[in-house]
Amino acid sequence: MNSKFLESGHIKLYKRENSKYWQMKIKLPKQKAIRSSTGSKILKESEKIALKYFSSLSIENKFQINKRSKNIYKKIHLVETTDLNKKEIEFFLNEARKFISFNKKRIKKNNILEGRTIFNLFFEDSTRTRTSFEVAAKRLGADLINVAVKDSSINKGETLLDTMTTINSLNPDVLIVRHPEEGISKRISINVDACVINAGDGSHEHPTQALLDALTIKNRFKNFSKLQIAICGDILHSRVARSNIIILSKLGAKINVIGPKEWLPKNIKKLPVTVFTDMKKGLKDCDIVMMLRIQKERIVGKIIPNQNIYFNKYGLDYNKLKYAKKNAFVMHPGPMNRGVEIDSKLADDVTRSLIQEQVAMGVAIRMACLDILIKNRDNVLKY
Ligand code: CP
Repeated sequence: MNSKFLESGHIKLYKRENSKYWQMKIKLPKQKAIRSSTGSKILKESEKIALKYFSSLSIENKFQINKRSKNIYKKIHLVETTDLNKKEIEFFLNEARKFISFNKKRIKKNNILEGRTIFNLFFEDSTRTRTSFEVAAKRLGADLINVAVKDSSINKGETLLDTMTTINSLNPDVLIVRHPEEGISKRISINVDACVINAGDGSHEHPTQALLDALTIKNRFKNFSKLQIAICGDILHSRVARSNIIILSKLGAKINVIGPKEWLPKNIKKLPVTVFTDMKKGLKDCDIVMMLRIQKERIVGKIIPNQNIYFNKYGLDYNKLKYAKKNAFVMHPGPMNRGVEIDSKLADDVTRSLIQEQVAMGVAIRMACLDILIKNRDNVLKY
């Protein structure tokens, strides 16, 4: 039999005796292998077909559209992952399932949030979070207003809380807030009637990123309790690391954090993680390797290491990935610095990298968050 494994080992292409067509065998961890003909006699073409099938499979096939399960999360804000228990996290992930399929439809429009007003208030740059909240809101029929903070009255000396109470007077349903100040979303949530979602507050938390990362992992592994996950790089300044440590450990995964000593938080020993400064040791037996961006905007008054030296020691490439489990997957919340935290080819290798899938899961999770919080608020206000 003529056969070839694609790079990750998840996909095998083979030809049966007396057949001119390439067959594909796709094997995801702890799941039954899928075998099918690629319908092509040409190896290169078969590779493309198998890779395309592999990518779509991970998003579509693993979930079925469920009815809404019993509401486990009763709060109207989502500002800190420390507020979430395991059952509540699972509720968010389960509710996001139906939106994964919905987002693959040709017509992506529903009216469950019709007439609702949602504000995107981003005081820091964003591509993924801001646009995915906008897409999520619009697909559910809500009106979303992007406030151009750079052109707002903040520039005339208005305080942030005054801006928020002004917007609150417009009767919004949800305020989505990204701001460099730690804890600001919580403060805002106490001062407004709308639901508040923390879309990143300084180095503190980014709850919806951690939820979408958990959903991406659940797509592949289902059971978190047997997983070993490495979070690597600038842990100290990363809100993504902090929220992921809390969410993934509550779901039962074991977490290794790996990074330069000066980029490990002082309280790291109090977190449910094992700490490494060496990639070889830290990646051993890991199923997932989550890379982090160097948060240059938060490293004030300190020296940032030379990019080549950093990449040699802490950047992820195919060689360092071999320290992890054989078929380990790679994640990165984005934006990526190619050649600094991660090798460019590895980042684009869909058999190893879940980076684009993370973006897709971001929309599904944010649809679920908007739906859950707005319904909870309706219950509180007895609408
Ligand atoms: N992951 C993330 O928060 O990306 P953005 O900064 O582009 O929103």
